[in-house]
Amino acid sequence: MKFFVDTAEIDAIAELNDLGMVDGVTTNPSLILKSGRDILEVTKEICDLVDGPVSAEVVATEADDMIAEGRKLAKIAPNIAVKVPLTWAGLKTCKTLSDEGQMVNVTLCFSVNQAILAAKAGATFISPFIGRLDDINLDGMELIADIRQVYDNYGFETEILAASIRTVNHVTDSARIGADVITAPPGVIKKLADHPLTDKGLESFLSDWAKTGQKIL
Ligand code: G3P
Repeated sequence: MKFFVDTAEIDAIAELNDLGMVDGVTTNPSLILKSGRDILEVTKEICDLVDGPVSAEVVATEADDMIAEGRKLAKIAPNIAVKVPLTWAGLKTCKTLSDEGQMVNVTLCFSVNQAILAAKAGATFISPFIGRLDDINLDGMELIADIRQVYDNYGFETEILAASIRTVNHVTDSARIGADVITAPPGVIKKLADHPLTDKGLESFLSDWAKTGQKIL
């Protein structure tokens, strides 16, 4: 399972990247706003830091403009994945850029039918949003499972990039289902290491070690 980190914060990406935890990065207009950085500058810095795909999202809504924006973003670095929303204009952009050999991430996916369209348009990644479905009392994880089944039924090669991940359980469930990639905020990825029994066990080992009066170094 690949881990993408869902942020445009360079320090947070670098910290996880140094540990080998970053197979790619996803950004979106909201994350660029949060970073306070210029999209072209910060995306270039991320691409220099990380070897894997770095998603950068177009903001136009008409296909011709989306394609032009996508081509401009693609020039930032060879590891750019142009991110487009799941609209007909986005699908047209996906098809055009994919045919040119460009990685494309189709985002804002909320149904199996949308995921089928993205695969047929040649998407490298499909990004179903788990948390936002959970937010409206639907089941985001069920969508991941359904897309996995349908893609496997037909041998679609588009990778399922489980997005809008809010909890560590979203990560576990995505792994069980067989999502190819998860993208999660740095805080969620760091929480994957937490377990109260690890903390309790370490406390007990350290307490006993102190009683031995020994030192290793
Ligand atoms: O990867 C998409 C992600 O940034 C959306 O997450 O938490 O805003 O729904 P969220």
